[in-house]
Amino acid sequence: MCGIVGYIGEKQAAPILLDGLSKLEYRGYDSAGIAVYDGEQIHLTKSKGRLKVLGELTHDGETMPGTLGIGHTRWATHGEPSDANAHPHMNRDKSIAVVHNGIIENYLKLKKRLIDKGYEFMSDTDTEVVAHLLDRYYDGNPLAAIIKVMHRMEGSYALGIVFKDHPDQLFAVRKDSPLIVGHTQGGNIIASDVPAVLKYTRDVYFMENEEVVCIRRDSLEFYNVDEEQIEKEPVHIDWDVDAAEKGGYEHFMLKEMYEQPKAITDTISPRIKGRDIVIEELGMTDEEIRQIGKIMIVACGSAYHAGVTGKYVLEGMAKIPVEVDLASEFRYRDPLLDEKTLVIIISQSGETADSLAALRESKERGAKVLGIVNVIGSSIAREADNVMYTWAGPEIAVATTKAYSCQLIALYLLAMKFAAARGTVTEKEMDAYIDDLKRIPDQVEMLLNNKNRIQKFANRYLAAIDVFFIGRGVDYAISLEGSLKLKEISYIHSEAYAAGELKHGTISLIEDGTLVVAVLTQEKLYKKMLSNMVEVRTRGAFVLAVTNEGNDEVERAADYVIYVPRTNSYFANSLAIVPLQLFGYYIAVGKGCDVDKPRNLAKSVTVE
Ligand code: AGP
Repeated sequence: MCGIVGYIGEKQAAPILLDGLSKLEYRGYDSAGIAVYDGEQIHLTKSKGRLKVLGELTHDGETMPGTLGIGHTRWATHGEPSDANAHPHMNRDKSIAVVHNGIIENYLKLKKRLIDKGYEFMSDTDTEVVAHLLDRYYDGNPLAAIIKVMHRMEGSYALGIVFKDHPDQLFAVRKDSPLIVGHTQGGNIIASDVPAVLKYTRDVYFMENEEVVCIRRDSLEFYNVDEEQIEKEPVHIDWDVDAAEKGGYEHFMLKEMYEQPKAITDTISPRIKGRDIVIEELGMTDEEIRQIGKIMIVACGSAYHAGVTGKYVLEGMAKIPVEVDLASEFRYRDPLLDEKTLVIIISQSGETADSLAALRESKERGAKVLGIVNVIGSSIAREADNVMYTWAGPEIAVATTKAYSCQLIALYLLAMKFAAARGTVTEKEMDAYIDDLKRIPDQVEMLLNNKNRIQKFANRYLAAIDVFFIGRGVDYAISLEGSLKLKEISYIHSEAYAAGELKHGTISLIEDGTLVVAVLTQEKLYKKMLSNMVEVRTRGAFVLAVTNEGNDEVERAADYVIYVPRTNSYFANSLAIVPLQLFGYYIAVGKGCDVDKPRNLAKSVTVE
């Protein structure tokens, strides 16, 4: 996510802005900038790269005098990382400066209208639209202009705004992207998150949705979207800085698990228009979609596991043959591709060496390549023919959770889009899929909020040395990811098996007390799974079942059952994976492992 800091007071603003932004670096960013009013003009310095570059350009703020300013660290969502796309953004006469965190979903429509009215754009960002809209509606009253602009924007935004004509005021707005206001001695400060203000104050105001605040050096005035002044109470923060960076969660991994509902919503909502799936960035016409002869999904680790689910969903919905391959295998096996093959490279970081090499191999062999990537402007995003972003926001923990969940969502949307283009699903089926998809964020939230049972169960298995995950169909794909989550953060050996494979060798490993996690969300395979559970249980296994609500029959074949809400069979992975993420997490925590930075692992494997 982007980071916002703003200051108005008696002190020099620039050093405070740079210091505040440095406390938000953990959120991940690719460029940074500050704008400071020096008594006559708003001066702007911004650049691609780390905050260090900004410090050097401004001599740690000394070259930008003034006591009013805003600053930003950018996590690119629209427009690649570059100097021009870095925030703050300004209107044409440089009288208004804006920083933004979030996604203005209707920015293209607003941008077109502004261009038609003669506005010129210097960047590819959605944020610059805000600067020009404020310009268009400003008639001397900043608050009125802000409110008008709020009524025209769709999506999520936290904004910091400076008006040259009002040097005794700093404005901030919040809708869906967090923003806080800190009241300090001799000045006031805004920020995206608590760590940026702790050095100056522990008493902060958490802005609510569609609230605006007008900040003076010695006062704060909060307004609602009807321009009515409202009263707010400050909250005292007693977190230490480390806890504050994690939003009060113990680990980034837990924080990111809890960000899954919003990340999933952010990935879905711009791509469902009414009853249609709209994936503008796909770059393929319906006719081209109908011409696809085969899909190759290529990735590593959890991204590969998402691809295994993608196979079931794409073949089931769109009736297109799908192969899934590990990038490290694909690139050396002389893959059979041609111009009718669509290769989908899935990667959170967009920098995984094997996946990038597979992308280049695919293009050399004439295939069209689509990236499903989380990091905007990353190598895979830039080199793919087209890229579908997952918009999960920066993922800090090495073990992926929210990015993996958004990869699944991207694959569901792709399958629905392809099915619609190829006429392989009825309108009624599509409507049901759309309704099921929209329910997923709330269902995930509900599972996360019922974490206590999982935590209690996990604490019984801290000493486990072998854990098996079994499933059939999509449940096998879920098992792969559940097993990796456990392995990579708790260091407990685990294997995922297609349940039908147990009798071909692995079942010899089952002993008294061996934990077997059985995933059964596919109703048509319940009976088969129940017999596999009985098989292992009669050989001494302790069976934890993860299954759909209402599937009580499983109680006779399991020792412990976790129920997940019902959804259609294609989307089940998005729900069943949540208890398995929590299971791995709480075992790792119970064992005292370094959950966010597991031994031997890197967040992005940029070497072979
Ligand atoms: C997942 O928890 C692991 N961190 C790892 O398997 C990861 O999914 C894999 O390295 C692929 O990374 P990418 O998505 O950035 O390409």
